[in-house]
Amino acid sequence: MTSKIAVTRWIPDEALKALAEAGEVKLSRADRPLTRDELLEFVRGASAIVGMLHDRLDGEVAGAAGPGLKVVANVAVGYDNVDVAALSERGVTVTNTPGVLTDATADLAFGLILAVTRRLGEGERLIRSRTPWSFHLGFLLGSSLQDKTLGIVGLGQIGQAVARRALGFGMRIVYSGRSRAAEDVEKTLGAKYMPFGDLLRSSDVVSLHCPLTPQTRHLVDADALKSMKPGAYLINTTRGPVVHEAALAHALETGEIAGAGLDVFEAEPEVEPRLLNRENVVLTPHLGSATVETRTAMAVLAAENVASVLTGGNPLTEVRP
Ligand code: DGY
Repeated sequence: MTSKIAVTRWIPDEALKALAEAGEVKLSRADRPLTRDELLEFVRGASAIVGMLHDRLDGEVAGAAGPGLKVVANVAVGYDNVDVAALSERGVTVTNTPGVLTDATADLAFGLILAVTRRLGEGERLIRSRTPWSFHLGFLLGSSLQDKTLGIVGLGQIGQAVARRALGFGMRIVYSGRSRAAEDVEKTLGAKYMPFGDLLRSSDVVSLHCPLTPQTRHLVDADALKSMKPGAYLINTTRGPVVHEAALAHALETGEIAGAGLDVFEAEPEVEPRLLNRENVVLTPHLGSATVETRTAMAVLAAENVASVLTGGNPLTEVRP
């Protein structure tokens, strides 16, 4: 019997082609996330689900798909939207897309660092609003990166890629995380491990690269923000709920920190309204992996995972509970 593959949102043709060789593809044509009810209906009878980070993929979804469900392929490296334990209990393989989006996400994180420290958004808005301006020595001054300290929270693949970029800008690297990186990684990056609190106190730029877990939810809360340097910047390209957004708005309003660059939000696509009018925040709509090459590679990897599992092989990039 032909396997049914439910794809919850548009994916590039290369990935669709790979999926079509593995089964009968049912692609959602909605230009938006499916509602919960739509999702439960959409996956009915599926052997494989290719899902997006906005889909909650859990036991209820597996139940709706039915006993034939073999694999759930999340087209993202982060899988906080997937109840891996519930799916595994039902014998469903879960996969994600690590590796292929490392550079794109690190580029975006560094883009945010430059944009907020050099006030690029403010400059853009000023010109577009036709506000009169002329060059002068005190005009829209930002902050240099050379000889400053970048604090990386979570020195995994993406954190390391950001660190490599930062070295090119003459920054020092400190990091914190659940565990220490391998000695050679520390050595190559000149990265110094320290507890999270010390990192906050000593970094000029703090960039978040830890996954969202119960332990990291609101890791950057009001207290954490208070312990950052007054001239420091916060960059978030991981998951919105790692930062307490209302507390961040307060810290920016009161000058506790100098600025923030945010690609992810606590309740996407909503953004804390107090952030929207602040000049010292750069906001982008979850663009970390948004290059043609990267998004294609992510979708193709998801498709390869599905194809492999449906033909009795091993998944390429499995997530285990
Ligand atoms: C991921 O893969 O987790 C990213 O957030 C998508 O850009």
